[in-house]
Amino acid sequence: MKITIRPNRVVEGFEGESIMEVLVRNQIPVQNICSGKGSCGKCKVWFHSGMPEPTQSDLKHLTSQEIDAGFRLSCRVKAEEGMEIEPVVVEIYDRKEAAFRDMIQINLDHGVQKVKVQIPKPSLEDERGDWNRLQDELLKILDVETVNIKMFALEKLPSILRAGDFVVTTTLWDNQVLDVEVGDTTLTLYGVAVDIGTTSVAVSLVDLNSAQLIKVLSHENEQTAYGADVISRISYASESGEKRLRLKHAVKQTINNLINQLIEESGIPAHSIYKMTVVSNTTMNHLFLGLDTANLAVAPYVSVLNNFIELSASELGIEINPEGRILTFPNIGSFVGGDTVGAVIGAPEVLEDGNHLLIDLGTNCELFLKTSQGMMACSTAAGPAFEGARITHGMRAKPGAIEAVTITEDGVEIKVIGRQKASGICGSGLVEGIEQMKLAGIINKKGKIIDPEKEGSSLSPRLRDRIRSGGKSGREFVLSYGGKEGSDVFLNQEDIGELQLAKGAVCAGIKTLVGMVGISIQDLDSIVLAGTFASYLKARSILEIGLVPNINPEKVKTAGNAAHVGAMRALLNRTVFKDAVELATKVKHIELGGNKVFTSNLMKSMYLERTN
Ligand code: FES
Repeated sequence: MKITIRPNRVVEGFEGESIMEVLVRNQIPVQNICSGKGSCGKCKVWFHSGMPEPTQSDLKHLTSQEIDAGFRLSCRVKAEEGMEIEPVVVEIYDRKEAAFRDMIQINLDHGVQKVKVQIPKPSLEDERGDWNRLQDELLKILDVETVNIKMFALEKLPSILRAGDFVVTTTLWDNQVLDVEVGDTTLTLYGVAVDIGTTSVAVSLVDLNSAQLIKVLSHENEQTAYGADVISRISYASESGEKRLRLKHAVKQTINNLINQLIEESGIPAHSIYKMTVVSNTTMNHLFLGLDTANLAVAPYVSVLNNFIELSASELGIEINPEGRILTFPNIGSFVGGDTVGAVIGAPEVLEDGNHLLIDLGTNCELFLKTSQGMMACSTAAGPAFEGARITHGMRAKPGAIEAVTITEDGVEIKVIGRQKASGICGSGLVEGIEQMKLAGIINKKGKIIDPEKEGSSLSPRLRDRIRSGGKSGREFVLSYGGKEGSDVFLNQEDIGELQLAKGAVCAGIKTLVGMVGISIQDLDSIVLAGTFASYLKARSILEIGLVPNINPEKVKTAGNAAHVGAMRALLNRTVFKDAVELATKVKHIELGGNKVFTSNLMKSMYLERTN
């Protein structure tokens, strides 16, 4: 039978299928929280033709206006010839989720297979063991020569089979049964993509049946209590095995807390999450796996492993299905990890013909350069300023954070995430704020806030009034006054110094890497900025403060959190993960530590000015 899906698709529906099953089979996003049981009220669609009578579930979960207008819960409606429906697009307000939604469009081939099996009941004539009878059915259905089963699934198989009257759903990976569930649970299959940053960890929950992104959450990496950057974490972990385990536990805890929050908010059971992909820098990768990091920080900077690794969730203590597969991205070198590989996979335009530079901005900033001579990558320690850390009023990009700043002689105009009172400043606000302060003459190219009495004659009184002597952190410039109920948000001399260190390290890294292949910045066809806050940076700002050497601003592009997008794409498609593994072996790793050209470039890159 034909079902029309507005705006412009006609799909096949089969006898006995629900509208939700038709949508899921055709990879059309529909919210499915209760596995089609009619209890969550999330799967509504709008009927334009063939509208059925409302069911009890419709009456319970939809308003009378919605019912009159033609909305119905898609899991409660059997498909019928000639039905015409319009899926209800789930609105996503989070700025990260909105950016991710379009970027993960990809063919579904994640490798996790849910198969519903009805197996013959045992009898005196058929005394095959429970697993034997399930195995025989699976061999027929899958048309393969072998199927194995994990002990975890085998142990519970007898009770699961009998609880579901011998109707069971098996979840398979590489022809191996990971788990068995009572009845038909084929509609509930989820995965998580994890981006472990030095400062923040982000986890996205994805429906593996429809490739729909359900939600992304992020939180400060709990390891930050033991050091702000990778070097301090390595030195802490190297002090004793117990301390290394403490760091492993801290990041595991951060990930589990985020997963539990996602589960709670979406109503999705943890055991239905069967796959997880992880991108991170090499140090975070090692600490997540509990590996020794001591040799990462001393020449010749050797990791325990650069390959990808596949483990079960129970081996790592991750709270998804215990047999859920965890795949970590391969590392390129000691300080260029799977997050760089993920960023390239998430922004594949950098692999096109021509010369392309990808900059993954974070506490540990990675640079990837692709030219006709091949691919190379290096990393430079930018510090946590871009993520709002070590900045007096720094905060992550969440409601209340200043994300954009405009300074004119009339004063300061700020844009705050969530349109509320400013409570701090995030990375994009910091970069633009300092660019605007420089252009307005509030700071000089050395980053020094001018003395309003001596050098402030060219400033309007409104701007002069915002410069205060401050405390031991030097002068400060007020971006937002808190009034009676809040505190002022300002940038002081130390904050500006932190940004100079971060941007100087990035700029010096770019000059050194590009110089190594004998091309100039002008020879680049594109500079792609990746990183959580990169999408919110303006090309004008980063060129003006010399974060990136001078180039035609039209060549500067942004790719959002490309590493996390790469993790999501690999979650949804096995070939993408295979490509990532292959890519990692082809990229030449460049070590900047001890490189004299880099040291000299670093000295010249601290000024807040355009640079060549
Ligand atoms: S009501 Fe939950 S999926 Fe339909």
